[in-house]
Amino acid sequence: MLTLENTATAAYVVAALLFILALAGLSKHETSKAGSSFGIAGMAVALIATIALALARDIEPLGLALLIVAMVIGAVIGLWRAKIVEMTGMPELIALLHSFVGLAAVLVGWNGYLHVEGDPAGAEAVALAQEGMLGIHSAEVFIGVFIGAVTFTGSVVANLKLSARINSAPMMLPGKNILNVGALLAFFALTVWFVIDPTLWLLAVVTVLALLLGWHLVASIGGGDMPVVVSMLNSYSGWAAAASGFLLGNDLLIITGALVGSSGAYLSYIMCKAMNRSFISVIAGGFGIESSGGGSDVDYGEHREITADGVAELLSTATSVIITPGYGMAVAQAQYGVADLTRKLRERGVDVRFGIHPVAGRLPGHMNVLLAEAKVPYDIVLEMDEINDDFDGTNVVLVIGANDTVNPAASEDPGSPIAGMPVLTVWNADNVIVFKRSMASGYAGVQNPLFFRENTQMLFGDAKDRVDAINAALSVTEHV
Ligand code: TAP
Repeated sequence: MLTLENTATAAYVVAALLFILALAGLSKHETSKAGSSFGIAGMAVALIATIALALARDIEPLGLALLIVAMVIGAVIGLWRAKIVEMTGMPELIALLHSFVGLAAVLVGWNGYLHVEGDPAGAEAVALAQEGMLGIHSAEVFIGVFIGAVTFTGSVVANLKLSARINSAPMMLPGKNILNVGALLAFFALTVWFVIDPTLWLLAVVTVLALLLGWHLVASIGGGDMPVVVSMLNSYSGWAAAASGFLLGNDLLIITGALVGSSGAYLSYIMCKAMNRSFISVIAGGFGIESSGGGSDVDYGEHREITADGVAELLSTATSVIITPGYGMAVAQAQYGVADLTRKLRERGVDVRFGIHPVAGRLPGHMNVLLAEAKVPYDIVLEMDEINDDFDGTNVVLVIGANDTVNPAASEDPGSPIAGMPVLTVWNADNVIVFKRSMASGYAGVQNPLFFRENTQMLFGDAKDRVDAINAALSVTEHV
């Protein structure tokens, strides 16, 4: 029989399929727009079906009103934030959104406890006890609260680090690995205890323990590894949502949570491989990483400076140029000037190509998006692995607002926090020009010996202004 309840359940299946199509679409540049449309459609179906289910289960008018008010407020804030967020602010916004999923899982867990274990004479507790399922419910509450609380504080720290409101260097508490392993062991022991005797104070203890663990896990990871942390927290938020799904008996939440959890875990794994990091070491809060402080005290000697006119002169005699953009190009919004410069040089017969590091900027694919926006031809934008052997023999490399991704310390200083991370080997070119505003370190907080090499010259100032000045100087020589 077609009832509101089973129509809503069928709609959940449709929503789950739309989410799977969304993931498939988002995996390729060409289909990504369709992918996000599937995601939006899936979420709309899920929200309508949730309200329909609530109606079918005779929700009280006050509950329904609260549900609708919460959805409207959430939608307004979401639309407003999405409208004003800068591209460079996306990772910190995503980290903040992960923290909401974690917090929601904690609240759902506590609510589940107060309704069932906290009210043993209530209808739900009696029914679960008769089915012999009370222990399972207690385990679901405990595990859900734990994962949710780790996700919550971990994501808050990630947000603070990504928005530069706290230092991105790894926090190095003495015995940090013992603290992490100890917290995990305590969690296992407390879970068993809680299933046997579900008292409120045990739930409070695990909440505090997980909040501290989440904070410590992410605070212990250095800035250079933050891309992996964000995808790892994405995965945790998925598992937290799945745990809430079990508690609420909501199949769609279980499916969606598992999709997010597993795809986030796989993305973290791929990123770890690309950055030559151990997956286990990163998810265990930088396990085994002992920083030597990044060599910030090392005296690398003097750096040399160049002017925009000097760079224009150098470029007018070059036959091959590679541009390696980074976060600074995004901040300065220099991509249009860079596209102009590329066009000018190509018109003069110069071989111009781009070298893109997998974690340049603050988002996967950040540089590719900016360059595509400025209409830089796709075929001259190459991945790091495709171009790294070609720096040798290149006349000029323009490092535009990149720092960590071109730091030779990653391959030459085993004590560096970014040791082992593959980088663009720009220093092998004849001339390297670094565009930045000061001698400040990059996101990982590590000094860059590239700036002091004999073949490197610094072009100080805002990347957009400097690129525009080079373009102006080149236009003058064009008309002479
Ligand atoms: P960074 O190491 O972040 O360095 C960017 C440089 O740009 C800074 O040294 C800064 O120097 C310069 N800069 C900033 N604003 C500028 C402006 N207006 N004009 C000119 N220069 C400017 O960049 P990167 O090489 O792209 O490396 C990315 C880092 O972020 C890596 O450590 C990566 O692990 C991390 N990260 C990446 C992601 C993803 S997924 N891509 C996510 C989170 C974190 P001045 O201040 O001196 O100008």
